[in-house]
Amino acid sequence: MAGVEAFDAVDLIRAKRDRRELTTAEIDWLVEAYTRGYVADEQMSAMTMAIFLNGMTRREIRDLTMAMIASGERMDFSGLGKPTSDKHSTGGVGDKITLPLMPLVATFGVAVPQLSGRGLGHTGGTLDKLESIPGWRAEITNDEMFAQLRDVGGVICAAGAGLAPADKKLYALRDITGTVEAIPLIASSIMSKKIAEGTSALVLDVKFGSGAFLQDIERSRELARTMVELGEDAGVATSALLTNMNVPLGLTIGNANEVRESVEVLAGGGPADVRELTIALAREMLAVAGRDGEDVEGALDDGRAMDTWRRAIAAQGGDPDAELPVAREHHVVTADRDGVLVEQHALPFGIAAWRLGAGRARKQDPVQHAAGIELHAKPGDEVRAGQPLFTLAADEPERFARALEAVEGAWRIGDPGEPVQDGGPLIADRIGR
Ligand code: URA
Repeated sequence: MAGVEAFDAVDLIRAKRDRRELTTAEIDWLVEAYTRGYVADEQMSAMTMAIFLNGMTRREIRDLTMAMIASGERMDFSGLGKPTSDKHSTGGVGDKITLPLMPLVATFGVAVPQLSGRGLGHTGGTLDKLESIPGWRAEITNDEMFAQLRDVGGVICAAGAGLAPADKKLYALRDITGTVEAIPLIASSIMSKKIAEGTSALVLDVKFGSGAFLQDIERSRELARTMVELGEDAGVATSALLTNMNVPLGLTIGNANEVRESVEVLAGGGPADVRELTIALAREMLAVAGRDGEDVEGALDDGRAMDTWRRAIAAQGGDPDAELPVAREHHVVTADRDGVLVEQHALPFGIAAWRLGAGRARKQDPVQHAAGIELHAKPGDEVRAGQPLFTLAADEPERFARALEAVEGAWRIGDPGEPVQDGGPLIADRIGR
């Protein structure tokens, strides 16, 4: 005889539909029974829609997060003998910050266990970017990860299948049922993976603006607060920065070109916004790990962070000196008049890079590492007629037409003195202790 189930999924769906708070035992059972296949996708779809519409209390969100952590393995780096600190970004256009940030923080003796993903849709994935380095391997064992954290101090690698399997199943379901953008579900999804990963400190880069996952700053603030509370409740020292994603970050969008730009930042140069955010997040990651007042800028300028980068890339089979792939075809878009670039919207540029082959439409698709966009001007820059504004790069020239369609109306040249889009600061707020 089949075992007796503690609850009935339909009762729990009705309860959430009618705005009743679910108990800890109900949430534990729901997540466990869904992971083992007893609760059907149809039932969980109804539940996620009820949560989307009616929300969850702080206690329910915490229980949901803990139940998702309990669905898989939980890593433990306490044996490393040094503090651990990690960063998670909610994703944006040209967001390559993890690449210079990991070695920068690791340089100060704070280990960075960065489990990352591949991109889907217009936001790129950190692993896709790093895989443009010849020989570099994203998949490593837990033992290799531990050894690299001990010997090099930082690692960026693929999350194994054992980490929060309930979230994997639930996220795929939300993706096809219009229930991704629910704060309780986003917060529990992100934090279950980060807490299961075993870091003792965590900084969240929560984006707002047209190229962000949640465009409205107040919704982003609520997401940040919810995630900081979840981290603190689980004993992980957590803080968040709210950062502007109305314009692309840096001058590159793609994979190999974003690695090149990251290496420039590690060499003490690079675009001002990428350097500023890298430094701000590094300071936060060190602060939540109990290390205030380090000379973060100095480690970028004197080559210490670059040194750690080279060792981390080599430890995963990559050649830090190898030539990165270059696209076969290029298409340059020029300014049609003299003036000032007053608008450059992140989302259309992200979509264009994706259409050029830098991103994937389906999980199983490969990405083209050399495809992407290089920006030659940023909002506020003066431009002259005929000057290059941006260059599209692709292996197949047929891709240019649809990419150009995506960026139509996405930038504008105005007169000197006209207000420039998003003059606000890159870092709008900080949330945490
Ligand atoms: N990223 C995640 O991992 N989960 C979400 O729900 C949204 C973004």
